[in-house]
Amino acid sequence: MIRKPTASNICRAARVLRRGGLVAFPTETVYGLGADALNAKAVCKIFETKKRPHFDPLIVHVASPEEAARLWKKTTPEADRLIRVFWPGPLTIVLPKSDLVPDIVTAGLPTVAVRMPSHPAALALIRALKKPIAAPSANPFGRTSPTTPKNVEEDLGKKVNFILDGGPCRVGVESTVVAFEKGKAVILRPGGVPVEAIRKCVRVSSRAAKRRGSPGLLKTHYAPRTAMVLVDASEKPAVPRGLRVRRLRHPKDLRAAATRLFQAIRKLDKIKPDLILADRVPARGIGSAIMDRLNRASSGLKGKKIAERILRHAARRKNVKK
Ligand code: TXA
Ligand code: MG
Repeated sequence: MIRKPTASNICRAARVLRRGGLVAFPTETVYGLGADALNAKAVCKIFETKKRPHFDPLIVHVASPEEAARLWKKTTPEADRLIRVFWPGPLTIVLPKSDLVPDIVTAGLPTVAVRMPSHPAALALIRALKKPIAAPSANPFGRTSPTTPKNVEEDLGKKVNFILDGGPCRVGVESTVVAFEKGKAVILRPGGVPVEAIRKCVRVSSRAAKRRGSPGLLKTHYAPRTAMVLVDASEKPAVPRGLRVRRLRHPKDLRAAATRLFQAIRKLDKIKPDLILADRVPARGIGSAIMDRLNRASSGLKGKKIAERILRHAARRKNVKK
């Protein structure tokens, strides 16, 4: 059931969480599927509901920096600076975990990812529970993230019976995930806070995030059911006859593009074309997060095969013209 985040519904949602149940709730980035982060059994339900592999650790959501500090063994000056500037907001900080955090939350890693969301309904829920909330995006594993309560209902349906309605998500792509190494920030996942903004506060490692560093960074992710191929906005690929193709274009304003990205992918996917041709965007600002999602969404084998067909066809036509 989708429920407005009134004071009484926040109380009821908190009660569901306190009893070890799951609640889908809005954040400024995407909708999360939440459980009491300190209850291992409840957190286990998240993995079952999403069919998420147990090696993929969760983000823990808090309502204050002090609450975050209790979940970490120690912090760093760089982390503190980023927290002062970007919290509440779409920035997740990875640091060594304290004994408070169950191993299932971190997939056995010695670190825990924590963020303070800015969405008022998310903060109200965490405060009502008086405990941190572990939450991944509220979609089946590997698929497009939900940015409206309706998306959550479509994706997880009867598996979650409490969905808090916070309207459409403002940012539209997930948080930026940051770890630290030798006094430098390491960007594990580009997201709502652009790396350019982070660089103004702390030194950023040029080393690309190793897969090992963030087990959830899989090559294929955020994927629609339809095959997707990336193209430049100016490209007009010749498409074999009989193939039903839809184009994913983006607004010039990259923030607006991020806000509507997952909605646009879902809309095209519903039409069930043979192929989605998605325009690339400049990889600056939040554009890096958009490109990261597009790359993963299009990395499925089916898309590659159809793309090869299109390219072969285009090459043949060129030869005929000569
Ligand atoms: O905006 C967001 O971050 C949303 C909302 C709901 O807060 N959440 C989200 O969660 O995107 P999820 O589970 O879809 O992605 C979590 C990411 C994964 O890439 C995971 O590998 C990484 O965070 N992560 C979590 N804990 C980690 C850790 N201890 N070390 C490294 N990476 C970690
Ligand atoms: Mg996700």
